Amino acid sequence: MIRVDCGKEHGGETMEQTIQVGLGERSYPVVIGATIFRRIGTKLQTMGLAKRYAVIGDDRVASLYGQQLLEVLHGAGLACELITFPHGEASKRLDTIEQLASRLAELGFDRKDGLVALGGGVTGDMTGFLASIYMRGIPFVQIPTSLLAQVDSSVGGKTGVDLPQGKNLIGAFYQPKAVFIDTEVLQTLPRNEFLGGMAEVIKYGASIDADFFSWLSQKQVAILGLDPPAIAAMIRRCCELKAKVVEQDEREGGLRRILNFGHTIGHAVEAASGYRLNHGFAVAIGMRAVAELAVRIGIADSSVVAEIVQLLRAYHLPTDIPPEFDRAALRAYLSVDKKTVGGRICFVLPERIGKVRIADQVGEADIAAVLGA
Ligand code: GLY
Repeated sequence: MIRVDCGKEHGGETMEQTIQVGLGERSYPVVIGATIFRRIGTKLQTMGLAKRYAVIGDDRVASLYGQQLLEVLHGAGLACELITFPHGEASKRLDTIEQLASRLAELGFDRKDGLVALGGGVTGDMTGFLASIYMRGIPFVQIPTSLLAQVDSSVGGKTGVDLPQGKNLIGAFYQPKAVFIDTEVLQTLPRNEFLGGMAEVIKYGASIDADFFSWLSQKQVAILGLDPPAIAAMIRRCCELKAKVVEQDEREGGLRRILNFGHTIGHAVEAASGYRLNHGFAVAIGMRAVAELAVRIGIADSSVVAEIVQLLRAYHLPTDIPPEFDRAALRAYLSVDKKTVGGRICFVLPERIGKVRIADQVGEADIAAVLGA
């Protein structure tokens, strides 16, 4: 059972909050606030991590924030370069890593230098992976600019790239030295990306924290309206929960698997869409599907499905596998998910809101039924 203090909303927009991810010598701060971006230079300067930084971002995020970040870093006396790659999940592959590494080598980056991931989940995962292998490992920090990255992927050290066979099949656990979350950048985030991030937020409530699940229901108007205190409280709560899980199970030997709630079927849905479906939307569909599965195998009451569907819909998230999706392809993608153990698919199933269990003995007929096969 994970205990954290209940999230309280802080009225001051510039209030800075720091959560520590406690992993011994690999511990690091997650700093959350509305004006963090402008203060990252001095913060990095104080940390003294590297003599030079490469800011890595996709073309879209770099055009919004790249120059601004370089100015902030230069203003603090830090040497830095900006390296970009084309936006989108299609870039999250080994050849992009090779191109980025070659660029670092051309620029003369060495083991005393560091990386800054400026962007969403794709950028964070790729930059972290690059940091883990470039010159056998250099430091990196995360500046997540999407809600999904702020509440989930920037914290916890999962890094990697996709293969044609499935998402994140190549990667490493490699922790950042710090995570800087500026809640103001969400103002420029495309609406569907914000909503997709809400699926990951709802995941925490549905799987670990029933009070947070209820709070999300009450705060729907404020959160969808990007109310700064509500957004800051929400992100902080997610990061606290994530930190507590990662501290207990950094390399996903057991407990951390609960954070994959909705992801096993979600990843298959995403793959079956050719990665055109927003990751969060796929996770939302996956959460509803595993709730149905839990009811089918008799470990949950049907009210769990109703509550999850209601909250997902309140945040304008999809809950059904699109009818045109090829069910046989979906089933095949489920089997290559890296959470399979000894060929058995591991599902994270809800027993009730805020409590899940891992199940790896689910029958084929029940899987087929929830996939609509
Ligand atoms: N996104 C799930 C995890 O970091 O474990």
